[in-house]
Amino acid sequence: MWLELTKWYEINKRDLPWRHTNDPYLIWLSEIILQQTRVEQGLPYYLKFVNTFPTVKKLAKSSEGEVMKLWQGLGYYSRAINMHRTAKFICDELNGLFPSTYDTLISLKGIGPYTASAVASFAFNEAKAVLDGNVFRVLSRVFGVSTPINSVEGKKIFNQLANEALNKKNPAKHNQAIMELGALVCKPRLPLCNECPLMSRCEAFNSNIQDKLPVKIAKRKPITRYINYLFIIDSGYTYVKKRDKTSIWKNLYEPIVLSSNEQITYGEVMEKITKHLNPGKKKPSNIFETKHQLTHQTIYASFWVAENTHEVRVSQDIEKIKLDDLHLLPIHRLFDKFLQFYTLQLK
Ligand code: ADE
Repeated sequence: MWLELTKWYEINKRDLPWRHTNDPYLIWLSEIILQQTRVEQGLPYYLKFVNTFPTVKKLAKSSEGEVMKLWQGLGYYSRAINMHRTAKFICDELNGLFPSTYDTLISLKGIGPYTASAVASFAFNEAKAVLDGNVFRVLSRVFGVSTPINSVEGKKIFNQLANEALNKKNPAKHNQAIMELGALVCKPRLPLCNECPLMSRCEAFNSNIQDKLPVKIAKRKPITRYINYLFIIDSGYTYVKKRDKTSIWKNLYEPIVLSSNEQITYGEVMEKITKHLNPGKKKPSNIFETKHQLTHQTIYASFWVAENTHEVRVSQDIEKIKLDDLHLLPIHRLFDKFLQFYTLQLK
């Protein structure tokens, strides 16, 4: 039946740039981006990266800041950092030669079983089955497997099914085809079963339980945080700080953090602000508040804007930068959201 799948793929596949190359670097790049986002959203990022860094050497020679700037908006910044480090490792330690087998690929930082299988099969036609969300869904429905896909047992079962299904003569095409079926036909909600080449052999379809599969164990609830920022405007300049390497938004810039966990009162906010600004009569003149959702955190953020009339007193790790140069720095989405609001206010 898997032959019917690849026939269907040949007719129905989307024309995507990474499907026209065997270059492991470009395939790796596309897979790292696509782990992070949907194809439509990922495509412009892929094109930007390929344009700026057409080879692994170009990526390795760039600065982390440049990479982060291009990655900005995709979220989960440790992916970008790992990608940059791996590019450096390949150039410095492997003579610029991209590893060509599953076993060597998986030893690289930021490359897990999915990406190693994708690069090994798409670039080198190695017989390794890919297992991503789309593939889990197709397999659980076709074989009627209700073991949770994110359980240890489920991972084992689905890995075995995926490798049994794999066409060993053309693993690249088979892997692309099963992912494409999951993306275009075997969708999470309202799958287009009438268009499916596997319909008659699909256990879920035959028992009409497509909407019950795959089964997933519920994830933990996101935690709630409250962040207060101070955004100073000081004769065309502002003050920002680079986040450290151990928390969310690694190495990205943001305004001065007043508090970052619990809710604090207005009085406490003002008290903290006066640590950074000599007390003047004028209170911060503007405030922007927003709810920002990350995978495991719901953040309620307030940006307090203090303009011109204050004398600024900040610690050494806070950098003074021209407002006009802010766009050159890698910043996180929450800060970007604020800046968009703020620039609109100025117009
Ligand atoms: N999602 C992840 N990898 C993909 C690929 N190579 N083509 C289309 N969608 C994908």
